[in-house]
Amino acid sequence: MKLPVGTRRVLVTGGGSGIGRAVAERIAADGGEVVVVGRRAERLEAVRDAWPGRIHALPCDLADEAQRQGLLERARDLLGGLDGMVHSAGNVVHQAPGRIDEAALRSQLELNLVAPLRLGEEALRVLESGGGVVFVASTLAFRPVRTSAAYSAAKAGLVAAMASLALEGAPRGVRFNAVAPGLVDTEMIHELRLDPGETMPTGVEYEERLGAQLEALRGLHPLGRLGKAEDVAAAVVHLLGASWSTGTTLTIDGGLLLRE
Ligand SMILES: NC(=O)c1ccc[n+]([C@@H]2O[C@H](COP(=O)([O-])OP(=O)(O)OC[C@H]3O[C@@H](n4cnc5c(N)ncnc54)[C@H](OP(=O)(O)O)[C@@H]3O)[C@@H](O)[C@H]2O)c1
Repeated sequence: MKLPVGTRRVLVTGGGSGIGRAVAERIAADGGEVVVVGRRAERLEAVRDAWPGRIHALPCDLADEAQRQGLLERARDLLGGLDGMVHSAGNVVHQAPGRIDEAALRSQLELNLVAPLRLGEEALRVLESGGGVVFVASTLAFRPVRTSAAYSAAKAGLVAAMASLALEGAPRGVRFNAVAPGLVDTEMIHELRLDPGETMPTGVEYEERLGAQLEALRGLHPLGRLGKAEDVAAAVVHLLGASWSTGTTLTIDGGLLLRE
């Protein structure tokens, strides 16, 4: 079966873990080819080795402008063409206003907003006509919590930037869309959120606190569970190949945004 344009030869940032890895593996399983990007080469190589000839590893720190430049061209040269790009790399640092650390603020803006905007601009030049880009945003773009100011601002900015890119890309046949996941069971939410001044607990106390945190997050979803990376990957791959969708954000959140 012929794969939809957008899902044939795809660059996936954050492809070494979590949602990005699930996207890369789904595309590979469907018969497409993928370049996975992230900082940790060993993670990328593990994904590559699980899908020989289908997934290729390209280590890159996306927060470093010099490393980021020309990334899509490199992926295109590796794959012999490029029709899809997914930006799943991201970082979150929970800090309440008044305690937002400068480095954490800047790194969240750089990775969650500046990098995908710049990659999106490169996609306008490099992707084949009919191709698609999907940015992984977050429900926190639409409903921030007390400690998410920097992350929410970056992800909301990403959704806005996606719309401008979609308008610019439309005449060239390059589509831009986003997904806004609720809480997904990946490494990102397995980090204990501490109160200001608190030291990291260890051993059983750490495990109990983390268990309680995950249980509280699960309870935010009317469908009664956290998302799986594969739930989000299915939505991402759909949008990559959705030939009449551009400028849209697909919420995939177990009903989280329905809550009052
Ligand atoms: N999990 C959730 O509940 C949730 C909810 C809504 C949205 N999201 C979004 O979903 C996306 C994927 O997150 P995830 O849940 O799959 O968590 P994850 O497994 O921690 O994935 C984050 C990925 O980003 C990569 N990354 C981080 N900094 C990078 C940098 N400077 N350069 C290149 N790559 C970098 C990481 O690889 P390296 O560390 O090897 O670089 C990692 O593969 C993120 O954009 C996140 O904001 C997650």
